[in-house]
Amino acid sequence: MRNGPAEAPPERPLDEAPAEARNMTDDLQALKTETDAALAAATDLRAWDAIRVAVLGRNGKLTALLRDLGKTPPEERRERGAALNRLKEALTEAIDARKAELEDAALEARLASERIDPTLPPRPRETGLIHPIARTMEEIAAIFGAMGCTVSDGPDVESDWLNFGALNIPPHHPARADHDTFYLPPRDNQAPPVLRTHTSPVQIRTMLTQPPPIRTIVIGRTYRADHDATHSPMFHQCEGLVIDRDITLGHLKGCLTDFLRAFFGIADLPVRFRSSYFPFTEPSMEVDIGWDRKSGELGRGADWLEILGSGMVHPRVLANCGIDPREWQGFAFGMGVERVTMLKHGMADLRPFYESDIRWLRHYGFNPLAPTMLHEGV
Ligand code: PHE
Repeated sequence: MRNGPAEAPPERPLDEAPAEARNMTDDLQALKTETDAALAAATDLRAWDAIRVAVLGRNGKLTALLRDLGKTPPEERRERGAALNRLKEALTEAIDARKAELEDAALEARLASERIDPTLPPRPRETGLIHPIARTMEEIAAIFGAMGCTVSDGPDVESDWLNFGALNIPPHHPARADHDTFYLPPRDNQAPPVLRTHTSPVQIRTMLTQPPPIRTIVIGRTYRADHDATHSPMFHQCEGLVIDRDITLGHLKGCLTDFLRAFFGIADLPVRFRSSYFPFTEPSMEVDIGWDRKSGELGRGADWLEILGSGMVHPRVLANCGIDPREWQGFAFGMGVERVTMLKHGMADLRPFYESDIRWLRHYGFNPLAPTMLHEGV
């Protein structure tokens, strides 16, 4: 411990002593020295705070000294008071300075421990996978989205009129027999509501609520009482609807050819339009893609595989929605989401889609961070 200034060693003359040491009595000097040592030893802000309280706090040592000033003989009081004030200033300064040092050190330590390398590729923990049906729906939406389509939505329970009537399928029409419909209990003497058998009622909903021009797709659940390796009572469809002036069969063919080639990632996929019948389109066409029946390979071989239904929207359907068929034309199409997913990934059976078997999902599922692929693009 250093002694008072009067006894400073000769190599440190009195006038070179640190300012705060000048005119300090032993007890004050002792408090300064002791506090400096404690501050130097404090390695975190908790220890620092304990020192601050022990020195400057209400019951702190300096506070006690200041309180005792009154007991000093009057002739010494002035000098002692000044010395105490200098000490208070010096201690406050030392305590504040140490706080800044400790805060800097804490920040440095945090930065060092939390250092991240933004150049590393993401390494996601395997927390889950995207179901193939969901991935197909994302891909379909991305491709038609790039063509300028919106995505529309409708309820699973539909009125008979929206699911059938407005689509030009009156009661007792033979096309109803193709749909294996689930009927719900009737209400108010009306035809019983149905679980929608296709996404086509959303065509009607869209045309009733939106003035043309319309470019939209609908992706959602549909229901038919049918169950085997390639049919499920609940399945998914994607519907497309384009209404504008001067829309022709050429637009339909171009749009669907581009879509199928982008979706399957085969730039020269053969696409064939074969005349068919749907009550809500005229003319109507099934769309086939080229494949090899033996190997199952798409885009090769001499065989054709039916993939979706399409046609020019029937004038009566437009009229049912208050759209003048002499001014507006359009096309529509519908496809099974499960079916195109099975073809794209070489899946033979549709039932595992709904069995929640984690081994199957590990085999066929998609990494959630992998971007939706547009393959060849559109
Ligand atoms: N709704 C038809 C079906 O489920 C598919 C389709 C939609 C056909 C739109 C033509 C136009 O089979």
